[in-house]
Amino acid sequence: MQKADLIVGLQWGDEGKGKIVDHLAQKYDYVCRFAGGHNAGHTIVTEGKKYALHLVPSGVLNKDAINIVGNGVVLSPKDFIKELEQFDDIEGRIYISDKAHLLLPYHAQIDQAKERLKGDKAIGTTGKGIGPAYGDKITRVGHRVGELLNPQKLCEDILSYFKINKPIFDAMGVEVPDGDELLKELEFYSQKLSPFITDTTLMVWDALDSGKRVLLEGAQGTMLDIDHGTYPYVTSSTTISAGACSGLGIAPHTIGKVVGIAKAYCTRVGNGPFPSEDFGKDGEYLREKGHEFGTTTGRPRRCGWFDAVAMKHAVRLNGVSKIALMKLDVLDGLDEVKVCVGYEIEGKVIDYVPYSLEGAKPVYKSFKGWQKSEGVREFDKLPKEAQDYIMELEKLCGAKIGIISTSPDREDTIIRS
Ligand code: IMP
Repeated sequence: MQKADLIVGLQWGDEGKGKIVDHLAQKYDYVCRFAGGHNAGHTIVTEGKKYALHLVPSGVLNKDAINIVGNGVVLSPKDFIKELEQFDDIEGRIYISDKAHLLLPYHAQIDQAKERLKGDKAIGTTGKGIGPAYGDKITRVGHRVGELLNPQKLCEDILSYFKINKPIFDAMGVEVPDGDELLKELEFYSQKLSPFITDTTLMVWDALDSGKRVLLEGAQGTMLDIDHGTYPYVTSSTTISAGACSGLGIAPHTIGKVVGIAKAYCTRVGNGPFPSEDFGKDGEYLREKGHEFGTTTGRPRRCGWFDAVAMKHAVRLNGVSKIALMKLDVLDGLDEVKVCVGYEIEGKVIDYVPYSLEGAKPVYKSFKGWQKSEGVREFDKLPKEAQDYIMELEKLCGAKIGIISTSPDREDTIIRS
């Protein structure tokens, strides 16, 4: 049987998956998103036109590919409809699982209210309603995309949910939707999205059975995984490769190659531990040079050095076959480049990701910097110091670095055999 290949983020999200997925998507018949919601975001520039993708899989720019939004995704109909407006001839090229859960405007209100109430304990979420939507799914009070096919019944069910929870919503300042307006909104979603709603599990099975090339597209990153990330400063889904199985309905043995995406340094948005964060001029250099501002929220990203300990953890968790190392050129021009190779916690140095990274101090290995890797397309043409850096990262992380990106341009990519 044909196996599906997988792309997954290995850090705290924003690894530059967009460029690689777009590059690889050209070679696949199906591109399937398995987790997250419109908290994710990347921009793809092709033929001089810019596309902002949040929920729509990256295969949308390959006119021959079928795109699937799997059951593991939480889907905001409003944002999805808006995103679709960027594309022509979309019908027949994109399908949404009837089992995906709906993310509705009240989820965002609840998310924002909870963050406000948490004060300095806030997670720093994107405020899009991701946690409340997944929360409703797990506590079995959520609504699935398939329910959009009967908007009248869905409206009644949502209103009854609000009736039961009214005291809690009142305390949080969350508005109870007006029945007529809600029905109108749900009818609109239903009319727009009905052509795309189907049993995507069967579609993926058929695709694999008939030898089609299938790419599974992850969102966010391993360190934001609900179980294996820096809990509670994580997102609410399974971001690691295992999430592709439940988020699409495929068995583990159908997963083939796993390409893990990592930046040549580290960034994080939102709160939570980030041991290799650099608060000085180097962090600022990376932010400015790497344009490290959130695609979804515009927030400045926290920047720091490559964390090889977290990367080793991510390689093992995801079963990474090879790493794509992004944005190497952003490190150009630095005298010294550092890599975190251990954490010091209460006077003890460890080389694995512990229960909590709170208070962990980085132990660094230092490398000589280099002047210019930007635009280089062959490994042997990289400055010697950059080559040494990459080869040492491979040893520290336990996986081959098979792809290296040296600029945002699709062509400025080194492929190592
Ligand atoms: P949520 O997913 O909106 O609940 O946010 C939870 C945490 O995950 C916050 O720290 C967010 O900044 C972070 N996060 C969510 N989506 C992304 C993403 O696509 N890139 C980077 N960080 C993200």
